[in-house]
Amino acid sequence: MNVSKKKTVLVTGATGGLGTAMCKKLFDDGYTVVGNYHTKEKAEKWMTEMKNNGYPIELFHGDVSDFESTGKMIHAIEAKYNHIDILVNNAGITRDGRLINMKPEDWHAVINTNLNSVFNCAKHVIQGMIDRNFGRIINISSVNGQRGQFGQTNYSAAKAGMHGFTKSLAMEVAKYGITVNTISPGYIGTDMVMAVPEKVLTQIVAQVPMGRLGGTHEVAHLVSFLASEETSFITGANYSINGGQHVY
Ligand code: CAA
Repeated sequence: MNVSKKKTVLVTGATGGLGTAMCKKLFDDGYTVVGNYHTKEKAEKWMTEMKNNGYPIELFHGDVSDFESTGKMIHAIEAKYNHIDILVNNAGITRDGRLINMKPEDWHAVINTNLNSVFNCAKHVIQGMIDRNFGRIINISSVNGQRGQFGQTNYSAAKAGMHGFTKSLAMEVAKYGITVNTISPGYIGTDMVMAVPEKVLTQIVAQVPMGRLGGTHEVAHLVSFLASEETSFITGANYSINGGQHVY
């Protein structure tokens, strides 16, 4: 794809497996790509490796679970890159465990990082998108927000909440040329998924008709599709990408 008028994309949680693949794909598409990071050591290593591989992508520090920190980060990005046209809310964590064992801090950490972050980021970019009459907001949810998952009351609640947010905001901003969509990946070969106990993961993969984990490049391709100008009539949608694990 050739992005005629260069648009700027912000990918949150850029240094993770999915975030990295999205940054590469969007850079290859011709966008100006910036990322967000939370841990400094990881960020410096990531930027060096990406640059050496032909992806000079700048990362900005911000805690997307915190409204003020997110605002500072967005202002810093806008000061350097003028504006953010496309926001990919990708940052996310897990704190798995049955409710009976779940500590309040595990609940709050997941809700703040996976769901409140969506409000924090969108809130800071939406006025600029309205003013320019163009925007793309892509929320990375999960199959486990669609169907639930044993041991993930916090994560499933946050991921399901993301799509509720998507549907409502899509209605509010459609008239300004802004689309808001959700992507719900299944089990993708990232560090997050590989941290699931091997026995449990084997059982999960056995339920996937494709018989394998998804690739990060497969999710990145869908992000690229929804970021494009040509998808201007798609809004409020939830795209499943799960190898057939959950069909409805
Ligand atoms: N269904 C029914 N029973 C289950 C079960 C399941 N899926 N999984 C575990 N159990 C049972 C066990 O057999 C055990 O039962 P017994 O006590 O009778 O032996 C009990 O539940 C587990 O006890 P634990 O003390 O181990 O439970 P826990 O509170 O520590 O939770 C767990 C264990 C963390 C949930 C662990 O099973 C696990 O990690 N499961 C995987 C969760 C998962 O899929 N996470 C996805 C992470 S990746 C991601 O989220 C990305 C994405 O978007 C897809």
